[in-house]
Order: sequence, then C-alpha cells, then structure tokens
Amino acid sequence: MQHYSLAAYKELAGGVRQVLFSAEQIEQRVLELGAAISQDYAGRNPLLIGVLKGVFIFMADLYRAITIPAEVDFMAISNYSPETRQRGMVRLIKDLEIPIAGRHVLFVEDMVDTGLTLHYLLRNLRAREPASLEVCTLFNKARRRLIDVPIKYQGFDLPDRFVVGYGLDHREQYRNLPCVALLKAETLQKQTPG
Ligand code: IMP
Ligand code: MG
Repeated sequence: MQHYSLAAYKELAGGVRQVLFSAEQIEQRVLELGAAISQDYAGRNPLLIGVLKGVFIFMADLYRAITIPAEVDFMAISNYSPETRQRGMVRLIKDLEIPIAGRHVLFVEDMVDTGLTLHYLLRNLRAREPASLEVCTLFNKARRRLIDVPIKYQGFDLPDRFVVGYGLDHREQYRNLPCVALLKAETLQKQTPG
C-alpha cells in the first residue's frame, strides 16, 4: 500500500518526537505474521477476535495478509474504574457475534502492556470452550508485564514508552498515522484540540 510521509500529516507531525517504526517496516512485519498464521492454521478456519478500538487498523491489515479462509469478530470493553482497571477487570460493552465454542480462536491485540486486560479477556473466552485460543500482538511491552500471558505471535518488542499511530491513540488522536512514533513531552501534556 502507498502511504503519505509523516510530513503530510502537518498538525500531527508537529507533536511527534521520533518515529520508531515506519509504515513500510510495519507493513513488512504484518505480512510475515499473516504468512505464519496462514501456515499454522491451514484447514482450521480460524476466527480472529479483536478489542475495539486500538486494534482496528492492525486487524484490517493482518486479516488481508492471511491467505486462508478465516473469520473476524470484535468486542468492545470499558473500564469500571481506575481501581478495577488495575486488576484488569473490564466491562463488556459489545460482545462477540460469532459463537466460539469449538472454534480455533486467534486473539489479536495492538499492544500488550501490563497484560491485565488480556489476561481477563482470555479467561472470559476460555470459559466458552474454543477448540484453541492463541494470541497475536503487534506490539509487546514485555518489561511492563504484571501477569504472564501466552503470546504466540508478536510483531515488535517495545521499550516502556508511550507510542501512537497505526491505531494507537493519545486522547483519541494520532490513530491515523501510518507509522508508530513517540510524542514530544509537551504534546503528551497538552489537551486535544477541539
Ligand atoms: P494492559 O496490557 O492491560 O496494560 O493494556 C494494554 C492496553 O493499553 C492496550 O490495548 C492499549 O489500548 C493501551 N496502551 C498501552 N500502551 C500504550 C501505548 O504506548 N500507546 C497507546 N496505548 C497504549
Ligand atoms: Mg487506548
């Protein structure tokens, strides 16, 4: 796919400190992940599950990089409170539409950070008795992990830094950057425009 350069996103580019992964690097890695998944899941019609919203761009690219029959579904969550958030507890505000019992499920994440949310969601999904349940994340902040979660496929390891772009937001902005970048300190403090 063709991408605009960061400079084309004038207002957003002004807030960016450093690009960590270019659109081309991400695209290449997503193709590799798709190839591995297509090989491993051949003949099993996997169901890809994502949590909105952060994952929507990665999911769109990963799904198209999978060359075998596969299905996709989404769930949406919201946090009860900062305290329950710390324990990884979340409220499902949109459940899956496709039943997963007996299905080969691949849980797709944009980012695994503490692992708390993922741990909670995996337990919820496991109770529905899928035939298998694995995790694919584009970014992994392994050093931030508070609870162990099994990751089968990973795009990139990340240092403990806040990043935006390719679906990842800062106060709902920057998701549309095709690269993944660090923000300037002053941007992180500023309120979003509008
Ligand atoms: P955790 O693994 O339960 O801590 O939650 C991971 C979630 O936190 C991700 O799905 C993102 O929504 C969010 N998150 C963590 N790190 C970042 C970041 O660097 N940029 C944007 N969102 C992030
Ligand atoms: Mg977010």
